[in-house]
Amino acid sequence: MSSTTGALWMPFTSAGGSRPPVVVAGDGNYVMTDDGSRLLDATAGGVACVILGHGRAEIADAVAEQLRTLEYQCLFGYSHPRARELAEAVADRTPGDLNHVFFTNSGSEAVETAMKIARGYWRRVGQGSKTGFVSLHRGYHGMNFGGISVGGLTENRAGFGPLLEGCSQVPAHDIDALEQELAYRDPSTIAAVIMEPVQAAGGVYPPPEGYLSKVRAMCDRNDVLLVLDEVVCGFGRLGHWFGGHRYGVVPDIMTVAKGLTSAYVPMGAAIASSRIHEGFVDPEGSIELMHGYTYSGHPAACVAGLKVIEILERESLVDHSLQTGRHLQERIHSLDSLPVVAEVRGEGMLAAVELAAESPEPLVAEAQRRIQAAGVLVRAQADHLGIYPPFTFTATEVDQVVDTAGAVLGELS
Ligand SMILES: Cc1ncc(COP(=O)(O)O)c(C=O)c1O
Repeated sequence: MSSTTGALWMPFTSAGGSRPPVVVAGDGNYVMTDDGSRLLDATAGGVACVILGHGRAEIADAVAEQLRTLEYQCLFGYSHPRARELAEAVADRTPGDLNHVFFTNSGSEAVETAMKIARGYWRRVGQGSKTGFVSLHRGYHGMNFGGISVGGLTENRAGFGPLLEGCSQVPAHDIDALEQELAYRDPSTIAAVIMEPVQAAGGVYPPPEGYLSKVRAMCDRNDVLLVLDEVVCGFGRLGHWFGGHRYGVVPDIMTVAKGLTSAYVPMGAAIASSRIHEGFVDPEGSIELMHGYTYSGHPAACVAGLKVIEILERESLVDHSLQTGRHLQERIHSLDSLPVVAEVRGEGMLAAVELAAESPEPLVAEAQRRIQAAGVLVRAQADHLGIYPPFTFTATEVDQVVDTAGAVLGELS
């Protein structure tokens, strides 16, 4: 059977299904498809990553200039000025003493790196039995083997086992369940607890107030590291630079990607606290963390990241995300009263509208199609519509998204 996408084998897409839409250009908060549609992009590039909106020539120009100056030189002892500058700029904005930035190419690699740092740390400080991980049901931590082993979306694991040993999940946001799991598994076997500040891909589930602080305290009591996966929440999505700021916790290791470069160039990072980093430093000069990727800290990505931070601050976009996020939450919750809506959830510039049906996927797909036909791009995902606009969205654009979704969901009710 031939594929509807030719030679292109697309991620998370049926090769035998209907021809997927092709996006050919982006401009501010809009994208253009090859059938001539111009769509208000309430998904920030589909997966909450183009936080500054599309078509920023200033980022493209900076990347082009960097490529003309130095296209690559990263690994095995060599660095370049932009990598150092971006690491400093990121470290200056992270909560607490998360001061040591290890660059990767994606969120999935950031998670693998964080897991290796966690295991490596305990080995270096003489507690090599601490190799396990505890994470949450519904959590998403990327698609590499470490990430699917700690991920709580079982469909992402099915068919790929055996997975990494020593990983277990507990019900999300249930502090007693986490405590019991740590006791049951014995903290002397656990390297880290890993979770997202707000569970994003799993359906946008914000934690109850106080939950993350309790997790932090529990990790401290049990001498277990806390890894916060901020691939979606980081760089302003919750109206604060990081989810750690929003919820008042400082993890031992944090992972980022997406907003780090606003997806103009692929990049992620695992960011470790001073305590974790000091556990590795070897004055004798041997390589302490035998880990890295050819393109860790690629100059083009570093320049994009520096531009993103400059623009976020020049245009006060983290604060704008806070204000617009409040408006989004206020407006989107008005959809709660529609019969077809099971639940509306959200925090900041991140929202999900879960639909009520015995098997919701076809209904969600139909709602997405009709909303798109009315000029607005939202994401259809399992049982919900995902809404995560660029931070450059205006209140009027938020209204357009909610009004369009409301009209369609009203028709489907
Ligand atoms: C919380 C979280 N972690 C990790 C990842 C994986 O990032 P990537 O797709 O860049 O590998 C994602 C992607 O959506 C994510 O949401």
